[in-house]
Amino acid sequence: MNASRLHLALESGAFDVPEGGLVAVIGPVRGDDLSDLPKDRVEIIQRHYPDHHYFEEQGFQVATSIGGPYAAALIRLPRAKAEARAMLARAQVATNGPIVVDGQKTDGVDSYLRDMRRRGDVGEVISKAHGKLFVVRDANLSEWHAVEMPMVEGRFHTGAGVFSADGVDPGSRALAEALPPKMKGRVVDLGAGWGFLADAVLQREGVTGVDLVEADHAALEAAKLNVTDPRAAFHWADALTYRATGAVDHVVMNPPFHQGRSVDARLGQDFIRAAAGMLVPKGHLWLVANRHLPYETVLEDVFHQVQPMANTPSFKLFHATSPKRRSRG
Ligand SMILES: C[S@@+](CC[C@H](N)C(=O)[O-])C[C@H]1O[C@@H](n2cnc3c(N)ncnc32)[C@H](O)[C@@H]1O
Repeated sequence: MNASRLHLALESGAFDVPEGGLVAVIGPVRGDDLSDLPKDRVEIIQRHYPDHHYFEEQGFQVATSIGGPYAAALIRLPRAKAEARAMLARAQVATNGPIVVDGQKTDGVDSYLRDMRRRGDVGEVISKAHGKLFVVRDANLSEWHAVEMPMVEGRFHTGAGVFSADGVDPGSRALAEALPPKMKGRVVDLGAGWGFLADAVLQREGVTGVDLVEADHAALEAAKLNVTDPRAAFHWADALTYRATGAVDHVVMNPPFHQGRSVDARLGQDFIRAAAGMLVPKGHLWLVANRHLPYETVLEDVFHQVQPMANTPSFKLFHATSPKRRSRG
């Protein structure tokens, strides 16, 4: 939610906060300045744990899905179109008043503006900071209601905006195939998504438990449907602050490499440090990454042995053993 656009909208009267009732702010991220809104009447809806937790710490009411009824709803457009549309349609049903849509040009705000003009009553448009904010009333968004997503490979549930919602990620598949047939002990799947790697790990002999750690609440809910083995445990958490209880023998991961729209290798590098910090002294990390991502240096920094397992034109796989440090750097 861009603070300067929101401020201008409030100043110009393009958007007036209703006198009473709950105001939904849907999808804001860490650092978004919401000080122009009446905090005690705001409900933050955010399914990504680190951002959810940030607003909770600031004293906001928080939720993982749109509830209502709301007197107004402000939406920060997400990247995924299916998620944005489902969000707008649900917000419309849950809100008696105006819907404020805010987004960057790179998130396609112009195309939503065109669409909304066809579907409802759009007021003044605030253009600033490479994005737009506009207010919609009485929009007909019924055809955008989330439809049941098709199952992946006939057996995996996913969800709108969830990573690899339309099919198994080829990198994750390559890692699943490269894992040894026996894996002794307890495994953490860091950034588990809807559970593809955890499912593969649980087919290995010797695995005593798998902890699926995932920040996207919707992905984790899908994982609970996909991974029904009693050895699985589910943690809605930030991989970078998650503390495993007990000894972890293996970490498997296909770490995220986006912060918003931009590629950011630091997140994946922090995942590698977090993995090293939770493993037992002779523990194993099994990692797949897109070829262009610079993970070799951090792997060498935090593990005694780093073994490239395979290279394809798109991916590289690593097996790293014996973390050097017992604390996260
Ligand atoms: C590349 S996907 C891999 C998903 C899954 N393991 C698979 O192979 O299909 C990375 C996952 O990390 C999750 N993620 C991103 N940031 C996270 C964080 N700080 N803590 C935990 N999970 C996070 C994303 O939501 C996404 O599901």
